[in-house]
Amino acid sequence: MTTTHTSSSEQTTVSAHITLQTLRQLKKSQTPIAMLTAYDYPTAKLMAAAGVDILLVGDSVATTVLGEDSTVTATMELLLVLTRAVRRAAPQTFVMADMPFASYPDVSTAVANASRFVREAGADCVKLESDIRHREIVTAMSAAGIVTCAHIGLLPQRAAQQGGYVAQGRTPAEAQRLVNEAVELAQAGAHLLLIEAVPDEVTAEVQTRLSTMGLDHIPVLGCGGGTSADGHVLVSYDMLGYNARAPRFVERYGDVASAIQDAAHRYVEAVKTRAYPASHHLYRMKSAD
Ligand code: KIV
Repeated sequence: MTTTHTSSSEQTTVSAHITLQTLRQLKKSQTPIAMLTAYDYPTAKLMAAAGVDILLVGDSVATTVLGEDSTVTATMELLLVLTRAVRRAAPQTFVMADMPFASYPDVSTAVANASRFVREAGADCVKLESDIRHREIVTAMSAAGIVTCAHIGLLPQRAAQQGGYVAQGRTPAEAQRLVNEAVELAQAGAHLLLIEAVPDEVTAEVQTRLSTMGLDHIPVLGCGGGTSADGHVLVSYDMLGYNARAPRFVERYGDVASAIQDAAHRYVEAVKTRAYPASHHLYRMKSAD
């Protein structure tokens, strides 16, 4: 988000730090919020320059970058290092850090770990995969001054319990359960909600219920959450076209895989044919005198 400051002689454009207030304002003005995952400094810098409002340092780094089968192997130490890198790259962007698997087993551990993301890594917000059993944790994090995002619906850390990476809330009973969960977590103090892999009807009903309860200042972010969400997040490696397979809700906006493979192929060719290094790449000896 940019603000234009005008003085008598000059006009300068200054980027303002995106805060929770900014996101609430975007929701109020019905301006969709654009969010992507980011795990490293150069990519985060490019995404911030492209105007992404929220960068999520997701535990999806375990699968996308490290090649693990599941996100449960991501650790606090890994996500702290990466969050710090993303913060450095994008000082004005709203940076959300993901609580990794088993980092919030009880209220005091949750608050202690969430606080590390804010204090040590400069995160603006901390997200946790949650259900109704996390109300107390959400309340405690919020009370500790941590901007908290409750992630509901498909919970990758609980894929084993949820029967795999499958869409949630597709029956009336399941949908009702998710809507109730969203409202309870909002009442418990969640500042943002993130709903993953649900029919649009679920997200629309969450919005209606939040509105009825006077909680419609809470931005609702969808990750495959339909058109009623106030903003949308994609795992950047899916959106950039790194992977041959991606969930149904992913749209590919780039073909980074081909670009990297093509560049690597041309490099190999150049080395094999001795075209690289060329004379302009060479250091010269200093003359003797
Ligand atoms: O870790 C992550 O990338 C996420 C998104 C799927 C929302 O939590």
